[in-house]
Amino acid sequence: MIQVRGLHKSFGSQHVLTGIDLDIEEGTTCVILGGSGSGKTVLMKHMIGLLKPDRGEVLVDGEDIVPMGPEELERVRRKFGMVFQAAALFDSMSVYENVAFPLREHRRISEAESREIVRQKLEIVGLRNVEEKFPADLSGGMRKRVGLARAIVLEPKIVLYDEPTTGLDPITTDYVDEMILDAKRKLRVTSVVISHDVASAFKVADKIAFLSQGRIVQQGPPSELRRSEHPAVKLFLQTWFGKM
Ligand SMILES: Nc1ncnc2c1ncn2[C@@H]1O[C@H](COP(=O)(O)OP(=O)(O)O)[C@@H](O)[C@H]1O
Ligand SMILES: [Mg+2]
Repeated sequence: MIQVRGLHKSFGSQHVLTGIDLDIEEGTTCVILGGSGSGKTVLMKHMIGLLKPDRGEVLVDGEDIVPMGPEELERVRRKFGMVFQAAALFDSMSVYENVAFPLREHRRISEAESREIVRQKLEIVGLRNVEEKFPADLSGGMRKRVGLARAIVLEPKIVLYDEPTTGLDPITTDYVDEMILDAKRKLRVTSVVISHDVASAFKVADKIAFLSQGRIVQQGPPSELRRSEHPAVKLFLQTWFGKM
């Protein structure tokens, strides 16, 4: 679903990405794991064409998006749903209005249809009868779920999560990990999770791609990463698993 080939990106003299190669298969969950400042968000922005690389290709569903202009990119971006670090809900809008927001922007549908779509999406993320609540009435985990409901309301093929568990307590982290696993199962979407949370990565990933010094230094199923001999991977995993 996503193929990144020889991707380079610098900001001035800072070389953030120095030759990224990554394949994400349809229907799987890939976690891009790396320390903060390693370039995870920069890589993600290339996948939706928010940044242009200095060199390299980004294929989404078979199309190279690098040469695309704004209109074509707009079409490609509709394949994506995004869940941001802070749930990024509008505080002054009800849950219903938040989730329905992309529908109003992109589709001409009746209020009744919109109500029904929102109800279905909330049900997929495990929420019922919360339409008239406001973000401030919800727990952190529930807000994440509303954020996901909004991200999937236009039925994307790919869901991107940027640091979905950062700053959450362990119980909420578990709740969000379950949400990611559940969304994959129910929606059969391709998921890309940007994270520095080792425990979450090992729980939700079909594949972990470890980003270090501008490159994916290792990618594979969690069991393979766990046995990695790469020094940067070993060091990073030790912080969670303890010395091996
Ligand atoms: N638009 C930008 N202009 C200049 N530097 C940037 C820009 N975006 C990101 N960077 C730099 O790129 C590096 C990687 O950032 P980022 O991808 O946000 O890291 P993270 O892995 O924590 O998501 C950081 O040093 C950051 O300061
Ligand atoms: Mg980031």
